[in-house]
Amino acid sequence: GAGDPVLPAAAWWQGERAKLVQLAEERTPRYVYHLPTVRAQARRVKSLRAVDRAHYAVKANTHPGILKVLAEEGFAFECVSPGELAAVSAVVPDDVPLLFTPNFAARRDFEAALRTRATITIDALHPIEHWGEMFAGREIMLRVDLGRGLGHHDKVKTGGTGSKFGVPIEHLDRFLRLADLAGARVIGLHAHLGSGILDAAHWGEVYSQLASLAERIGTIRVLNIGGGLGVPSHPGETALDMSALDRVLTAVRQAYPQFDLWMEPGRYLVADAGVLLAKVTQEKEKGAGMRYLGLDTGMNSLIRPALYDAWHEITNLSRYGEAATTMYQVVGPICESGDILGSDRRLPESKEDDVVLVAQGGAYGAAMSSRYNLRDEADEVLLP
Ligand code: LLP
Repeated sequence: GAGDPVLPAAAWWQGERAKLVQLAEERTPRYVYHLPTVRAQARRVKSLRAVDRAHYAVKANTHPGILKVLAEEGFAFECVSPGELAAVSAVVPDDVPLLFTPNFAARRDFEAALRTRATITIDALHPIEHWGEMFAGREIMLRVDLGRGLGHHDKVKTGGTGSKFGVPIEHLDRFLRLADLAGARVIGLHAHLGSGILDAAHWGEVYSQLASLAERIGTIRVLNIGGGLGVPSHPGETALDMSALDRVLTAVRQAYPQFDLWMEPGRYLVADAGVLLAKVTQEKEKGAGMRYLGLDTGMNSLIRPALYDAWHEITNLSRYGEAATTMYQVVGPICESGDILGSDRRLPESKEDDVVLVAQGGAYGAAMSSRYNLRDEADEVLLP
């Protein structure tokens, strides 16, 4: 209910250590998702007064239990592939709104999406220019490139000429003419500049930029200002200020009350809810005091450190509270030098079969995992 206390993000697993060790003794590697944290984050997003519809960006984590909880919390869903549309449709009630927001999708992907109830977002001239008949009589959204990107790493910035997303502003009129020719009605503008943004002012800027573009287009009813809401990962990083975000959005909303406001966060809802459990396999010393701590999974289960140098907190649950005396390179069993989960981590002296927790694995963890080296995928369990 509305009176539930909002949990401090990231802290839940400290209170569940015994349970987590037990889950790891049964099986590793294993992702554990704490549903009360998903609900608490969902309520933080739902508390934004200016937002008419919040979608969950399913790409962050497609576990059916998480989709179900977010549907219960009143979320709509943003999907980028026919597979994501099918996964959501299998779990959420038929009246929950869906968005299809793909990039460089094939004609057949759009055909599949048009057979669902999803609202389609187009982010290039090509679909409307070459497959226009598909959209005749339809209401569509247009993703624009506002000319800049933002995010925790260059690889997650989705704006500017160096990124493959969106229709640049100078092609806007051409898109609208083509849509008109096709008999499609452009009812919304969309922008998403990147992922892992901690500055509330960002969404106010995107919102007012889209609103002033939309004012010049008679048919626009909806502005979708994307996702990208970050969670602090490094120690000492400051959390996104949700009351500041609420104020910023409400101010723009008052200037442009004629447009509905949509958002589509992924990471913010699920990152802190998930942890990856693994067991120590081996220890190795090399060179000038270089100590490697091997786990029974690595970049195959969590590729973010390898791909973005992302920082995930690592804790030895079996030796919780013992002095962190040893500097380790925490690595996995994959045959790549980039198979690192954490470099230069100070941990207690660790031993074979210790249970190790890698935090903030709820977003883009299992979702980006692979069977590289033919390692089994990590198991996934829910804590209700
Ligand atoms: N909307 C659109 C159109 C997107 O492309 C994305 C993410 C989202 C919403 C949700 O973004 P979020 O709220 O989760 O930041 N694998 C990277 C993140 C890639 C995000 C891709 N697009 C990572 O692990 O950091």
